[in-house]
Amino acid sequence: MHDVNALRDWRFSIDPQGIAWAVFDREGESQNALGRRPLEELAMIIERAEQGARDHSIRGLVFISGKEKGFIVGADVREFDELTDERQVIDSISQVNGYLDRLERLEIPVVACMHGFCLGGGLELALACHWRIATRDEATRIGFPEVKLGLFPGFNGTVRSIRQAGALAAMPLMLTGSFIRATAARGMGLIDELAPSPLNLPWMARKAVQRGRRSKPAGGWRALARLWPARGLVAKRLRSETAKKVREEHYPSPFRLIDLFETHAGNFDGMKLAETRAFAPLMLGATSKNLRRVFRLSEMMKAQAPKGLAFKPLRAHVIGAGVMGADIAGWCVACGMEVSLQDVNSEQITKGIGAQKKLFTRKFRTRPQRDAAMARLIADPTGAHISRADVVIEAIVEKLEAKQNLFKSIEGKLKPGAVLATNTSSIMIEEIAAPLADPGRLIGIHFFNPVAQLPLVEVIRGTQTREQEVGKGCAFVTAIDKFPLIVKSSPGFLVNRVLAPYMMGAMQRLERGEHKEKIDEAARTFGMPMGPIELADTVGLDVCANVGKILKMAPSGPNRLEEMVAAGKLGKKSGEGFYVWKDGKPEKAQPETPFDALELERLGRELVDPLIAEARKVRDEKIVESADLIDAGVIFGTGFAPFRGGPLHFEAHEEKSNVAPLRRTAAE
Ligand code: NAI
Repeated sequence: MHDVNALRDWRFSIDPQGIAWAVFDREGESQNALGRRPLEELAMIIERAEQGARDHSIRGLVFISGKEKGFIVGADVREFDELTDERQVIDSISQVNGYLDRLERLEIPVVACMHGFCLGGGLELALACHWRIATRDEATRIGFPEVKLGLFPGFNGTVRSIRQAGALAAMPLMLTGSFIRATAARGMGLIDELAPSPLNLPWMARKAVQRGRRSKPAGGWRALARLWPARGLVAKRLRSETAKKVREEHYPSPFRLIDLFETHAGNFDGMKLAETRAFAPLMLGATSKNLRRVFRLSEMMKAQAPKGLAFKPLRAHVIGAGVMGADIAGWCVACGMEVSLQDVNSEQITKGIGAQKKLFTRKFRTRPQRDAAMARLIADPTGAHISRADVVIEAIVEKLEAKQNLFKSIEGKLKPGAVLATNTSSIMIEEIAAPLADPGRLIGIHFFNPVAQLPLVEVIRGTQTREQEVGKGCAFVTAIDKFPLIVKSSPGFLVNRVLAPYMMGAMQRLERGEHKEKIDEAARTFGMPMGPIELADTVGLDVCANVGKILKMAPSGPNRLEEMVAAGKLGKKSGEGFYVWKDGKPEKAQPETPFDALELERLGRELVDPLIAEARKVRDEKIVESADLIDAGVIFGTGFAPFRGGPLHFEAHEEKSNVAPLRRTAAE
């Protein structure tokens, strides 16, 4: 018997009533992930509980987290790459599944107590327990995010979630990777009991053990979808719904999950084994590897905010309540900050604040939460709140002199240590900072439009900017749940610079008479979220023309872009650009004969070529610190096909797989 008193990631104890408590508190980590050591220690806990059940020294086992913030965030993604062949994957997963089976078979009651994130492997562990209690807290979120990593649940979560919730609820949860609240999970049958707060968990768990509570599998109509022929119909519907969102050749895992369900969901034990067999190739496939890379890149971006910084942004002041300023203010408020919004035009402030209602309705469930958000967004036409702000962001018109004058006029009013930032998309930071008494203070904090949708924010370092200010800028961006990317002040920064040649290239093809629908479809075939022509219309053709000029990439001579801008056809916002827009959607003409698949593939690859070439230049000019961070910025700032791992990674990988081995010369 291993010593359960010497565990490093768990604390194990048996109380005077004979209840065993397994407290998961991973050593040296802020969150609990089920890595190799915690799983080995879990096996020791199970072994000890089996022995205690046999000799009646243990009458129940309770799993609870020792972390303040969450139960378990899932399996440890950092260890996935160590498995390099299918046999290894199958062996290592089968071992864990063996532990969970033993847990489930324990004759004493086994209870899981959840507060905060309970995701992926964490939820699978909980599903192998006999009774599940979760806090009603807003912070408690339950889900299977595996599909976002190109996988599906592999610790028999597919089988157990379908058993508990029925396929009609469990399959969409796994297929979308969305997180649900404890109340919704209880409605589905994944959770058995709700606790008012984390403080109630131990007491409720004790009661559940004393009463020998055991959760019941989904019964009645919820169990029906598992049976044939209902299963075939459900699978068909799930397949067509999934195909509307992603392409099978890009993201195979949801389709393999539907196959698994369709073929095996009638047989509990058979499906368990089939799950492992279907999981292994996905784990080793390119899509999952690249999506795991994207996950690591996102962590890398967050890590750009220095640790242990005393700077904690609570209040922001935004100047300019136009398209960007109002949405930046609204987003910061939605993330819990108090924000004052200033503009020379007070009507703009009223309009900008009013426009945030939509965001708050989406973000907050209850009326008091929405009212509180509205109360945190303060109209400030005279800038009276500027001296209270931890972060001041300028988002006024894109004119150097206007920006310089504004910064000169506010510099003396700032709180010491406050971040001073501009949202400029094209002017050099050092030019804006030139007239300041302390030019080293100014940074760029460049958001993308629409603010609520795009996760990337470029943090721009001017030639004189102090490193500490850049660090604080990153801390602010992380605090509002966005990914910061440090970029040197240079034309177009990163995202606009790589997008411009891609979009201009596509427009040149249009000039040459190529079909706009075909161009857009080809880009989507490559994996872009929308094609370059539709993107140009969405961004605004005036904005495109302007960026093109700044980067000296605009077409010379008469061209359709200039003509349309002159005619007021600005794209989506004016109702017509390259496309005519109806109800927020472009009207696309159907081709007479469907586009040829190979042709689309070839064209798609050609279309992204200028983007990749520009990303290479950005790397060579050291505008961004590393190739990995460039890939991260392009993925999160443009939506560049995440399953391809980023433009530079894609190119390197593509070359490696296409180029024949070099022949050695005689001299070597
Ligand atoms: P906008 O024209 O919609 O809004 C500018 C607002 O600033 C107006 O409401 C105007 O009344 C106000 N304003 C002008 N001078 C002012 C002053 N001295 N003091 C206070 N308020 C003043 O402009 P938009 O599109 O929101 O752009 C703002 C900034 O954000 C620009 O620097 C732009 O380059 C940048 N940006 C714009 C993006 C976009 O897609 N529109 C994307 C990323 C950055």
